[in-house]
Amino acid sequence: MAIAFRPANASDVPALAAIRAAEWETEAYWIRRITAYLPQDDEQGRAILIAEDGATLVGFVAGHRTRRYGCDGELEWINVARESRGRGIGEILLREIGAWFVAQGARRICVDVNPDNVVARRLYSRCGAKPFKPYWMIWEDARAMIRG
Ligand SMILES: CC(C)(COP(=O)(O)OP(=O)(O)OC[C@H]1O[C@@H](n2cnc3c(N)ncnc32)[C@H](O)[C@@H]1OP(=O)(O)O)[C@@H](O)C(=O)NCCC(=O)NCCS
Repeated sequence: MAIAFRPANASDVPALAAIRAAEWETEAYWIRRITAYLPQDDEQGRAILIAEDGATLVGFVAGHRTRRYGCDGELEWINVARESRGRGIGEILLREIGAWFVAQGARRICVDVNPDNVVARRLYSRCGAKPFKPYWMIWEDARAMIRG
């Protein structure tokens, strides 16, 4: 599978909003949220990375630096388009954002994940995350995200 990664830009926002809105809220809601989150330069401590299979956008992942809960970073969003799930793309998206966190010097990474979201929790566990608090999991060392 030849998946390519690149940082998102403003023209990607409607497609990212459509992927998010397939799960929660509306496209208009996600266009607002993602536009506000989209980093304008490298200094902002945030990243949105897109996965493409040829010309097809198959998923994306977003994360930022934080001091929340004594962490260094937070995984904000991870989504794979429904028709592209179960091919390992979620795992490689985690690897990509993990590499970004490590390059930022961020080690302890948290993620807000619903206790009912068993697919995401299995993916995070497989890639080294542990249960942390109700609704939260944690990577004590972001390098585990890269190892998968
Ligand atoms: C969570 C999510 C990102 C996972 O994406 P994904 O690309 O399907 O993830 P993976 O393919 O890496 O893993 C999913 C399953 O496919 C399996 N898989 C991976 N590669 C495979 C392959 N080549 N063949 C068969 N199965 C495979 C994995 O083992 C895993 O199985 P498991 O759930 O039984 O452990 C995706 O389901 C999603 O976008 N969900 C909605 C948004 C969401 O919940 N985000 C997280 C909020 S905190």
